[in-house]
Amino acid sequence: MPKLSSRVLASSGYSLDVESFGANAFNVWEDRTAKRQDAAWQPIIQQAKQGRLREDVASLFQALDNLPEGELRVLESGCGGGYNAELLAMWNPRIDYLGVDISPAMVGLARQHYPHREFRIGSAYDLPVEDGSQDLVIDGVALLHMTDWPLAIAEYGRVSKQKVILHGLTITDDAPTTRFAKYAYGQPSLELVFNRQQLLMEAARAGLELIETHPGLDYDLAPYLGIPSVSEAWVLAKSS
Ligand SMILES: C[S@@+](CC[C@H](N)C(=O)[O-])C[C@H]1O[C@@H](n2cnc3c(N)ncnc32)[C@H](O)[C@@H]1O
Repeated sequence: MPKLSSRVLASSGYSLDVESFGANAFNVWEDRTAKRQDAAWQPIIQQAKQGRLREDVASLFQALDNLPEGELRVLESGCGGGYNAELLAMWNPRIDYLGVDISPAMVGLARQHYPHREFRIGSAYDLPVEDGSQDLVIDGVALLHMTDWPLAIAEYGRVSKQKVILHGLTITDDAPTTRFAKYAYGQPSLELVFNRQQLLMEAARAGLELIETHPGLDYDLAPYLGIPSVSEAWVLAKSS
């Protein structure tokens, strides 16, 4: 019996037959999905505040460990309900944070939760900031929903001047980068499992060099899709 993470439990109906989910199946997250994702995250944040870090939060904190202290300009791409703003502030209260997400429903929730933070509706493919304007770009479990992920990585390389953290990456060493479909919080959702070498190659193309990896949640797709996988957080630095 495979060990099921809580992330897997929020998901069902894994399939490599993406087309069978229908042409309009992968719309941006609607109100209902946004609320369900939000409800799933609140207890995780509360636990983190009490010092009990779930594996993926622990891996995010490890990824943040070697970043410079002091005031840092941080852009989060695919910020969802903005929870990482809170986790990042636990690590460094002096962050200047901007969250960007393509889903108006998610941005609405983020603004409700964190009215003192800035959130914008926008795409990872066209980030609304200048070249090299961010000390840190963070992507938390968002890149794996982006069909044009090389473009998103190129954007992260463009706007970051120091580091990029890709958190919650599903990675395989045994297959090419593969799209699959599933139901996430009840809504049809597209996801990717990244081939490690392909991801490294796109990062290098974007001027980003891998400097740390941290294991995250147990997320092995082998029992569902026949593709062995792991979840990791990557810390990348701008190549000089
Ligand atoms: C699984 S949620 C992650 C939310 C949050 N970062 C976290 O770690 O909990 C993925 C988010 O990525 C967003 N997203 C998907 N594609 C996007 C794109 N092209 N540009 C910006 N956001 C995107 C979705 O709307 C969703 O809010």
